[in-house]
Amino acid sequence: MQRVTTTQLLKKKARAEKIVMIAAYDYPTAVLADEAGVDSVLVGDSLGMVVLGYETTLPVTLDDMIHHTRAVVRGAQRALVAVDLPFLTYQTGTADAVRNAGRLLQEGASAVKLEGGVDICPQVRALVSAGIPVIGHLGLTPQSIHVFGGYKLQGRDEEAAQRILSDAQALEHSGAFSIVLECIPEDLAARITASLSIPTIGIGAGVHCDGQVLVLHDLLGIAGKVKPRFVKQYARLGNVIREAMEQYAREVREGKFPGPEHSFTSEEPVTPSLTSAKKP
Ligand code: KIV
Repeated sequence: MQRVTTTQLLKKKARAEKIVMIAAYDYPTAVLADEAGVDSVLVGDSLGMVVLGYETTLPVTLDDMIHHTRAVVRGAQRALVAVDLPFLTYQTGTADAVRNAGRLLQEGASAVKLEGGVDICPQVRALVSAGIPVIGHLGLTPQSIHVFGGYKLQGRDEEAAQRILSDAQALEHSGAFSIVLECIPEDLAARITASLSIPTIGIGAGVHCDGQVLVLHDLLGIAGKVKPRFVKQYARLGNVIREAMEQYAREVREGKFPGPEHSFTSEEPVTPSLTSAKKP
């Protein structure tokens, strides 16, 4: 199976075809994302909050990202796998950025994403020179949460909007092939999208971006109680999963599970298959 390439994503913008990206972190969901036909799976450092239970993305390490990248690359055979460079793996300089991003490409990633604008353009240029495709990330950049003082809409006044627009143009000039725009007003996202020849991928940035990204656990309804306004829940799997576990616990306690169809006897005529349950 041919994997989606960065060039194909760039062509989608030229053809006005929307790009679909999902942040997912493990083998089974990467398989499902591929089956659903998404263009790109992002191994986001949001995994720190979504599957490791941290308050922020700051504690996530390169080793965490490598571990999850391996699983996603095994699962997604077609989607382009992009991986976040976590906090302190690129802010410290171009050599660190190339070395750490290179590790992720050695694990099968096709691109890396890093947060920031003009300040990290030297890193973007170094990565691109080393043959490492780069996605930028502007607006609400979670690795700078302590600067923002919380998860808030960014780029609201004209000065802040202009800064994000200039950052986006600087990232394009430095060689980024795409930019994630997170939590900015939709009219600003539309301005940025129109001013770039590389695609924008929005999350909480309105419909005028060239593509959209959502965290899989958010869209499946298994990400806890807080639902940001920009998330649409396409399923309520949290309820389904809880109810299934409650039923399992009840049946174990009542001695109803395992039943005969899930058990073996010493009188089995032939060595039974372990993969299919006996008919009741
Ligand atoms: O870490 C992440 O999942 C992300 C997306 C939400 C864009 O950066």
